[in-house]
Amino acid sequence: MRKVSILIGICMLVALALTLMAQGPPDLSPIMKDVAATQNSLRMNLMNNAAADVEKDAAKLQDDFTKAMGFFKAMKAQDAVDTAKANIDRAGEIAKAAKANNLDAAKATAGELQKSCKACHDVHREQLPDKTFKFK
Ligand code: HEC
Repeated sequence: MRKVSILIGICMLVALALTLMAQGPPDLSPIMKDVAATQNSLRMNLMNNAAADVEKDAAKLQDDFTKAMGFFKAMKAQDAVDTAKANIDRAGEIAKAAKANNLDAAKATAGELQKSCKACHDVHREQLPDKTFKFK
């Protein structure tokens, strides 16, 4: 009986260790997919002058790039951390401008945010033969 309890105890410790080890950096792919969907939504809402929805999209982008920044930090890619931070700030500015109903300012900042996608992808995104992407 004692041996069985010790064995169960060891199994639980191993399970705990495996769980902790599995917690690497967050997966960037679902974050980026949400960035792309939200960026599209933002563009449409800017076109339609839907300030309240622009504000919502900007808040979502802020959240996404905060998560992405965590990933780049874990990867020790300082340039990507800086770009993600710049996009967090840009999204904040877009939200603020939308709240003030200044959609021209929001559009200008959204244009800068849009340009950052390709700039970072050119350096840090690699497409695999199966057409999926990974960090490089
Ligand atoms: C600071 C770097 C950086 C910025 C800025 C950035 N991305 Fe990415 N993105 C990546 C990396 C790295 C990957 C590949 C990682 C992956 O998909 O697992 C990626 C992947 C993607 C993917 C493919 C996701 C998949 O797995 O199918 C899309 C779509 C995407 N990004 C859209 C965008 C859009 C839109 C923007 C701008 C609004 C943007 N990204 C800005 C780094 C960035």
